[in-house]
Order: sequence, then structure tokens, then C-alpha cells
Amino acid sequence: MSGPRIHGFVRRPWDLPESALTDESLFFDRTRRREFLKSIGLTAGLGAISPWLSGCGGPSIEELDKAGHVDKGADHYPAPLNESFEYGRPETTRKDAAEFTNFYEFSSRKSVYLNVDPFEPVPWSFSVEGLCNKPRTFDLDDVYDTFSLEERAYRHRCVETWAMCVPWTGFPLAELLKFVEPLPSAKYVKFETFFRPEQAPQQRIDDYPWPYSEGLTIQEAMNPMAILATGIFGRPLLKQHGAPIRLVVPWKYGFKGIKSITRMELTDQQPATFWNTLAPHEYAFEANVDPNVPHPRWSQAREWMLGTQKVYDTVIYNGYGDYVGKLYAT
Ligand code: MTE
Repeated sequence: MSGPRIHGFVRRPWDLPESALTDESLFFDRTRRREFLKSIGLTAGLGAISPWLSGCGGPSIEELDKAGHVDKGADHYPAPLNESFEYGRPETTRKDAAEFTNFYEFSSRKSVYLNVDPFEPVPWSFSVEGLCNKPRTFDLDDVYDTFSLEERAYRHRCVETWAMCVPWTGFPLAELLKFVEPLPSAKYVKFETFFRPEQAPQQRIDDYPWPYSEGLTIQEAMNPMAILATGIFGRPLLKQHGAPIRLVVPWKYGFKGIKSITRMELTDQQPATFWNTLAPHEYAFEANVDPNVPHPRWSQAREWMLGTQKVYDTVIYNGYGDYVGKLYAT
């Protein structure tokens, strides 16, 4: 992803020079790493992920749990499994998913778990407002009391070409929206994350358009695939996964799945969003997974799985075309 201008240069994790990479001789030998990167169409710098690709050291699952643990709502897990969804690939381990996270409020590298300790996701509330009949603020008890949680096995595809298969626990976003009764004039839903510079170190950097924001068309938001997740792997979300509540839209690149939501607004205008504001030519508003539309700096034709590094061909809409393809039929 593109980074902000800091101390006079634009920090782009993907643009780091070879000299900035972790000493791969400790891990992958050079030829094997090159072959792997070539196989996924990436031969440029991999500063952000190189240490992780190393497989050397790293935190234990106990350390990752301790860093991000949230107790609130734990008695609601595990929720019943919705058997309509299958990965079609092996499930990613809890450790790999919890270690390799993107949460720019805390870090622009894959070390979010090291910085989330000061973050307080309880108590929490979020508002749903704008073009609707019944605007409302929900706290976590409202969420757990009002909506029926279910577990769904979804593939996740990051714009950076990594992918994972994880079981989210949540409920359809459409259920929440029906609750507030959108007006016919509502065409988009805008989502926002918290702004807490005292808890999230990167929010002290002014050049990012904080708070993190995202958006969907109202039709996308009402699609049954779009869920608000409160849990992962049969327990409440860890802080690094976006506790206490986040969006999951698995046919889109992962950056659309905004974490730790504090506000939703129904609007008649396409909202400005975080990555699209920073680099509009690199991160489109729609951002559907599409192997035929390369990112300006790398191919999207293939993807690699966290943990196993197994490479797969990327599939249009991340393989969820049967559910969402009709949204985009011309
Ligand atoms: N939400 C917020 N608030 N801040 C972020 O930096 N990163 C996005 C998305 N949601 C991000 C965010 C990106 S780029 C991805 S790929 C997914 O979260 C990653 O979700 P995960 O870290 O739980 O795997």
C-alpha cells in the first residue's frame, strides 16, 4: 500500500530497496525467494512482508492472544456455523492470521500486534445515521442482544496479493441497515474507524486522512455476503483484527473491510475513502477482486496464502461471483 510523506519522502512498504529487506539468507535462500516472488508476479521490494516470509522467530499464539485479547461478548461464541460457505482451500492458522495483520492506525508494517496494547475496544458504541428514518447508536450489548450471530468460512484477498481463509463470526450488514430504515435517497454507506491518537501511534501522523474510512453502494451493503464481524476463529475479534466490530466484504480487496467501526452514514454521495484519497490511481472505490486488472505496481493474477505461501490463481470477485456478480452486470 502507499504510505504518507514522512520526513520528506514517501514511505512505500512495497518500494523499499533490496538493502532494506531482512537478510533472507537466514530464512529463504535467495533463489527460492526469487522463484516464489516471480511465481506471484512480484520481483520488486517486499519490505513489509519480508520479515514475515522469513518464518524465523515471531510471536507465539499465546503472545498474539495476550496482545489483542478482548473478553467482552465471549459467552456468545462459538456461534452456529452457516454451512453455505466453504473455503475450497485449507484454513489459515489462527497464529498466521493474527500475526500478519494490516491496521495502519497502529503500524504500517506487519507488527500491529506489538502496538495494540493501549487500544481500548470496550466499552464501544457506533452510530448509524444520515439518510434513514431511525438513526441510532448501538453499544456492544445492543449488538449481541439484537442480532443473531453466525460463523462463516470466507476467503480474504488483500490488494497486496496475500490471502487467507478464516472463520468470521458476525451478522449480515443488511440486518443492521433494515433496522434504521434507509430512505430511498440513500445510495451509499460510509464507514469510519475511531480517531484516538493517544492510543493509536500512527494517528499522530497528520498526512494520513484519518479517521480510516470506507464505503459501499447501498446495493453492495445490502448483499447477504456483506457482514459485520464481531469474532474470528470462534471467539471475539482480537484487537489487531479490528475489535470490537468490523466490516467483511470478501469479494473485494481487504482494505474495504474497515476495522473498529465507530460510525456509519447513509448518504446520496459516493464517500471519500482512506486509500482512495491517498492514491486514487492505485486503490479504486469499487475495489472488487479482479485478476485482469493489475495494480499499477504489481500483478493481481495470483495470490499466496498466509502460512503455507501456496500460490493460487486469483478469481474474479474472489470466487463469490454467484453471490455478487449480478451487482455489476451491465
Ligand atoms: N481498517 C482500518 N481501520 N485500518 C486499516 O489499516 N487495513 C485494511 C482492512 N481494514 C485497515 C482496515 C486492510 S489493507 C486489510 S487487508 C484488512 O483490514 C486486513 O484484515 P486483517 O488484518 O484482520 O487480516
